[in-house]
Amino acid sequence: MKSPIPDYLDEILDSVRSDDAGERADYIPELASADPDRLGAAFATLDGEIYCAGDADSAFSIQSISKPFAYALALTDRGISAVLDKVDVEPSGEAFNEISLDDEGRPLNPMINAGAITTHSLVGPEGCSAEERLERLTAGLSAFAGRQLSVDERVYGSELNDAHRNLAIAHMLRSYDILAEDPGVVVEGYTRQCSLMVTVHDLAVMAATLANQGVNPVTGERVVPASVIRQVLSVMSTCGMYDAAGDWTTQVGIPAKSGVAGGIIGALPGQLGIATFSPRLDKHGNSVRGVSLFERFSSDMGMHLMEVPAAARSVLRDHAPSGTETVRIFDLQGSIRFAGAERVVREVVGAEITENRVALDLTAVHSLDDVAGRMLLEVARRLSMEGKEVFLIDPDTVIPDPDPGTDGQLTVVSRGDELH
Ligand code: DON
Repeated sequence: MKSPIPDYLDEILDSVRSDDAGERADYIPELASADPDRLGAAFATLDGEIYCAGDADSAFSIQSISKPFAYALALTDRGISAVLDKVDVEPSGEAFNEISLDDEGRPLNPMINAGAITTHSLVGPEGCSAEERLERLTAGLSAFAGRQLSVDERVYGSELNDAHRNLAIAHMLRSYDILAEDPGVVVEGYTRQCSLMVTVHDLAVMAATLANQGVNPVTGERVVPASVIRQVLSVMSTCGMYDAAGDWTTQVGIPAKSGVAGGIIGALPGQLGIATFSPRLDKHGNSVRGVSLFERFSSDMGMHLMEVPAAARSVLRDHAPSGTETVRIFDLQGSIRFAGAERVVREVVGAEITENRVALDLTAVHSLDDVAGRMLLEVARRLSMEGKEVFLIDPDTVIPDPDPGTDGQLTVVSRGDELH
């Protein structure tokens, strides 16, 4: 049987194909002459499956979509606080090329050009040369894509020739000591970064690496630490679509980044990387058909981040002993996070437990986050301090290394019937 997903993607592409609103970016001559009708989309799942449709092999320059990845590398190389000292994380509500800095000369966020030029200068170890920085940047973005990316020299030359505005921004940054080196060299490097060539297939894998806490789901390589991803996705959701960020967040609700060549990526944490490509742009510099595609994806497939499923109503069954059983068993089930664990805590605390032995049975729990694990262990600790013998039935080790803490006693068993 054929998967319905490529058919779905084809159908959605067809539904936006006739929309020829918008204009190609004309401040970069190479982009102004690009074929405006190309249209492609790709999904990359977190177990490495890729679905492509339309012009999936068509290459285009990454442009501003490079910004979150360069930011991730700078955060990895210099640490979050050193980067925050130079680039803030406040939405600007302004155009991508606005010359806007805060009172200390810091760019408002790493997604507008002022912030991205600064971020570019922070990639690589402190004191590295401009060449070493570019090597680190290209290798890093290639690791996100899972293949070697390269610069299109024509796109690069075409933008650099006329990069007066970015040069003006860089000189401003230099005057505030936000840039510590020759502004011209930094703008050259940043323009090369924007001229790396990608396809929607590459971008979907790059976005999936963000959605997968920094591990490329195709190559299995950890590209950046998970702590960095939280920072990057947060900034993408507040600033990734510039002065259209509010509309995007309410309509689409997926952390995203657009580029003036017509690409858009969306990274749905824990689920999917998405990429679209269509060169005509709206007044914000975002692809017109790309925005429509994302609106469709989000509503058709319930991808809005604020639209989460209702918490499972029942995460616990109190299994009072009968007959010869002498153990009070609490069966837990499903996926348990803070709210589910709070329910468990409340029910165990409220239960009248006359038995000397109490078991928390996690056999039917398929995932449990860190805070839920700690809450359950605290319940176990308190039960054992009240003199109960406490068992944790955890055949799939959903709580690795269970430590019931000071004065707690806990026996871990792999199956419930071991207790009877
Ligand atoms: O800095 C620039 O002008 C471009 N190379 C990148 C701009 C961009 O892609 C803005 N995003 N929509």
